[in-house]
Amino acid sequence: MAHRFDALTAEHMRAGGSWKWSTPGESRGRGLIGAFVAEMDYPVAPPVADAVRAAADASAFGYLPDDWVADMAAACSAFWGDRLGWALDPAWVRPVPDVLTAFTATVRHFTRPGSPILLPTPAYMPFLTVPGMIDRALVQVPMPRSAGGRFELDLEAIDRGFADGAGLLVLTNPHNPTGRVFDDAELAAVTEIVERHGARVFSDEIHAPLTFGGARHRPYATTSDAAAGHTITATSASKAWNLPGLKCGQVILSNAADAEHWTATGYLAEHGTATPGVLASTAAYRDGRAWLDEVLAYLDGNRALLADADLPGIEVTVPDGTYLAWLDARGLGLAEPSSAFFTREAGVVMTDGAACGEAGRGGMRLNLAMSRPVLAESVDRLSSAIRSM
Ligand SMILES: Cc1ncc(COP(=O)(O)O)c(C=O)c1O
Repeated sequence: MAHRFDALTAEHMRAGGSWKWSTPGESRGRGLIGAFVAEMDYPVAPPVADAVRAAADASAFGYLPDDWVADMAAACSAFWGDRLGWALDPAWVRPVPDVLTAFTATVRHFTRPGSPILLPTPAYMPFLTVPGMIDRALVQVPMPRSAGGRFELDLEAIDRGFADGAGLLVLTNPHNPTGRVFDDAELAAVTEIVERHGARVFSDEIHAPLTFGGARHRPYATTSDAAAGHTITATSASKAWNLPGLKCGQVILSNAADAEHWTATGYLAEHGTATPGVLASTAAYRDGRAWLDEVLAYLDGNRALLADADLPGIEVTVPDGTYLAWLDARGLGLAEPSSAFFTREAGVVMTDGAACGEAGRGGMRLNLAMSRPVLAESVDRLSSAIRSM
């Protein structure tokens, strides 16, 4: 039976307002399909739209009142408790405009001055460039692939990086762009290494609600007291409910000393949080669960479509978490970046793997959060481009 999201055509998306679909251009007489930046094409959850409308009706665009922050923290805490197994203390949930602001505040205020940052790669692209913008060296830690093809953390390289002076590990889980959801054993191994070096973890859990099949997100700070003691967690309703333009995320503190230090240092990071974003995020966490479940089921169908795709020369990693698939195109032996080839020959615009770090070279990140007919067309176009090489 057709799903209401099936009706979201490429023409409809191009006429709307998103970054993903604003890439102009034609390829071989067909419009480009936007499949790069991590935005979803689905109409926003009705409780979120209602909250933003109500904010406009009430002229609620002033500075952020404390009780609205508290209400969001309570809604966030209830959602994380019910769905992700972390009964957060709402007093330790603080507003920030976005995860990147949480990241820069963590680097500035919670790491040794000047200490380098360790980043498993391929990675979410800004993590490669933002450290340099705040005068920090970045150490890429390429993720090896197991015999079964799954991306894993290189624990020995992380250990070496800390031994060489790094102060912070960026742990993105669920992982963008590889779709990994790290298991307890991997997380415990990270904790042991970080503790041994007296270092820190920035745990980016923005994709936490977006897991599939048997995979279940485990909040890093819940894995042990040690992990809670060295971690700043960041999340946001912006991925699971598709609200990045509303500029509201959350920092989650997990020990009293960090909470106190955040109170002393976090003002500037918190200041940019948008009032309508706080109201929308409260609505998402509190009243957006049915919409989220519908989206997860739909995305799961898109995962199945990709799993069945016939793309010779491409190793496809269907994500266990996130709606981002990794397509390793090295088998095609292209002389140019694979994303450039497929933009031109297939008209499907993906993120080039090299933008995710050296370890991503030859790969591409495909965003699955589109209507199923558009995904089917995307896959057909990729397949035809390969066959006409
Ligand atoms: C892993 C990850 N972290 C952070 C972000 C950015 O989040 P924000 O817009 O809240 O800075 C994204 C966006 O796609 C992401 O995938």
